[in-house]
Amino acid sequence: MVAILMVTLASAWSIGASPGPPPAQGPPMGWMSWQSFRCELRCDVVGWEECISAHLFKTQADILADEGYLQAGYNTIHIDDCWQEDQRSSVGNVLVPNATRFPQGIAGLADYMHSKGIRLGLYTDIGVLTCGGYPGSRGYYDVDAKTFASWGVDYLKVDGCYERSISAFDDDYPSLGESLRATGRPIQYSCGWPAYLGNNETAKPYDEIVQSPCVTWRNWEDVLDRWSRLLAIVNHWGEYGEFLSKAAGRGKYNDPDMLIVGTPGITLDQQKLQLAVWSIVNAPLIMGNDLRAVPKDSKALLLNADMIAINQDLHGVAGWRIKGSETSEHEVWARPLSGGDIAIALVNKLGETEQTLEFKFDDVAGAFLSVLGRGGALATRCADVRDVFEKRSLGKKCDKVEMRVGPHGAALLRLSSIKL
Ligand SMILES: *[C@@H]1O[C@H](CO)[C@@H](O)[C@H](O)[C@H]1NC(C)=O
Ligand SMILES: *[C@@H]1O[C@H](CO)[C@@H](O)[C@H](O)[C@H]1NC(C)=O
Repeated sequence: MVAILMVTLASAWSIGASPGPPPAQGPPMGWMSWQSFRCELRCDVVGWEECISAHLFKTQADILADEGYLQAGYNTIHIDDCWQEDQRSSVGNVLVPNATRFPQGIAGLADYMHSKGIRLGLYTDIGVLTCGGYPGSRGYYDVDAKTFASWGVDYLKVDGCYERSISAFDDDYPSLGESLRATGRPIQYSCGWPAYLGNNETAKPYDEIVQSPCVTWRNWEDVLDRWSRLLAIVNHWGEYGEFLSKAAGRGKYNDPDMLIVGTPGITLDQQKLQLAVWSIVNAPLIMGNDLRAVPKDSKALLLNADMIAINQDLHGVAGWRIKGSETSEHEVWARPLSGGDIAIALVNKLGETEQTLEFKFDDVAGAFLSVLGRGGALATRCADVRDVFEKRSLGKKCDKVEMRVGPHGAALLRLSSIKL
């Protein structure tokens, strides 16, 4: 009897949940609830589409599918914290979604997403509690992995609050990774691990993180809907980007955190800057806005196909800041792309005025020589240049390129046909 029950459950896990659409081949793209909705539970006060409920996720999914985001590559709706009831079930010790806010459960929501060609992301925590104080997965990695697989979850964000100790991360993230692998469902594993290990990126165990097998990992502090935090993250990547590039590659991505593009807290120029840097460093593009309230110009930036092509480039090499420092006013970031193309971001950290920024082809060749050993091929003098945000060709440019860049803004360029 027990044996038959086990077999039945095991086959339910493998065949019960409908398959989700395949992941993007580049960094994950989608929409996540945290930045705009946090742990809002007062549904009867703020409305059912404004709190962490199935209504909210369906509403955002409908816009994702109907307004071009899904087609552009944003293919996952991510539920962040606060979806759970505050106790595990008394029978089976499984996590239980709040029945009032998720009346069809997570499985019902996954079916809804899959019927629209959207993947479903879910959230849990490696420790005993989530950051919001709900039950974490510690002690239940196998149980939870099977539950998530049976629900049809395609992506799992695993936060790092309430872990036993700093050293426990090294055991626990690989252990949950193994539990996920054992389900047979290809759930993409997103790890909060390095964000809990302080500021020194070179001291973090990126080899183990990649092996765990985290597809993406939050390296550092949370983004907030304001320039000061965006700038702090950009400066941190400026400092460590070349080192972090070595940890990443095709199918494995550093995560500087969600996009705040389309939120009210930053200017349009600052939004360009975030997208330019996130594209150069091969970062996930997971929107933290409210898709109902994204201004037209922000939406155009998010849907910019040339920007997305740079971000998703299958060469898979993350770029970094090749000129500038924490205190410099102007920076140059660069990334090698497939087909011998190069992406360049010119970053203006001055907030007052539009500035003229430039980069020299020599700087780019010099930066890549040390890392890729391809300086010879890149040490050329001319290229065809495309202005990604303005969607226009600037024609053939030689030796250097100058651009006007708005306050706290960035220009993103694609160089092709690079030759002497
Ligand atoms: C479900 O969420 C509501 C808030 O929207 C809360 O009042 C209720 O206590 C929660 N139920 C459980 C069992 O956690
Ligand atoms: C960062 O960590 C590395 C490797 O452990 C170490 O060599 C370096 O001194 C540390 N840097 C700082 C600023 O602490």
